[in-house]
Amino acid sequence: MHDITAIREFLGCPTPEAWIGWALEHPDVLLLDHAHCEKKAAATALNLMFRYVDRPELLDALSRLAREELLHFEQVLGMLRQRGLTYGHLTPSRYASGLRSHVRTSEPGRLVDILVVGAYIEARSCERFAALAPHVDQELGRYYRFLLKSESRHFEDYLRLARLYAGEDIQARIDTFRTLEAGLITTEDDCFRFHSGVPAQAA
Ligand SMILES: [Fe+2]
Ligand SMILES: [Fe+2]
Repeated sequence: MHDITAIREFLGCPTPEAWIGWALEHPDVLLLDHAHCEKKAAATALNLMFRYVDRPELLDALSRLAREELLHFEQVLGMLRQRGLTYGHLTPSRYASGLRSHVRTSEPGRLVDILVVGAYIEARSCERFAALAPHVDQELGRYYRFLLKSESRHFEDYLRLARLYAGEDIQARIDTFRTLEAGLITTEDDCFRFHSGVPAQAA
């Protein structure tokens, strides 16, 4: 399995056991929301490419990232179909909006924060794939392990870009989002999604 030690160290907490149990009770939502997450990851990267047209390193890294996310999206869609599930609308969890609501509004703080949030979303996704892999069926487990490599590179890309464009030390912003992210992961959530907190009864 791809080594994700750096990701575990970056995150403020591991995925709680209660979330894993919750995921195993909702395999259909897990796969459906996974497809949505891949599509949203591509859209986030594309949005940044439209907004920051004058940043070559960002364009190079995020164009590749967006292509990889769309490929993942197609792969998960294929798995949904294979399992007789239909892709459709799904309300998002509080997770991404909970993080983005703390993004600063003036530049370059805005860009730096969006990139740090991107690093956290990629890191958590990667950590969750690794946490789920031993518990799901063989095909899905193999796919989750395959994803670790690209998702951990996405995490590194976002973090590298954040450092590049900040022009100053970003440890304080990393620490802020680390605490926020861990809060969203360890507190009670009212509906199950890929990035949910824990079910009410377990908190
Ligand atoms: Fe992905
Ligand atoms: Fe990714």
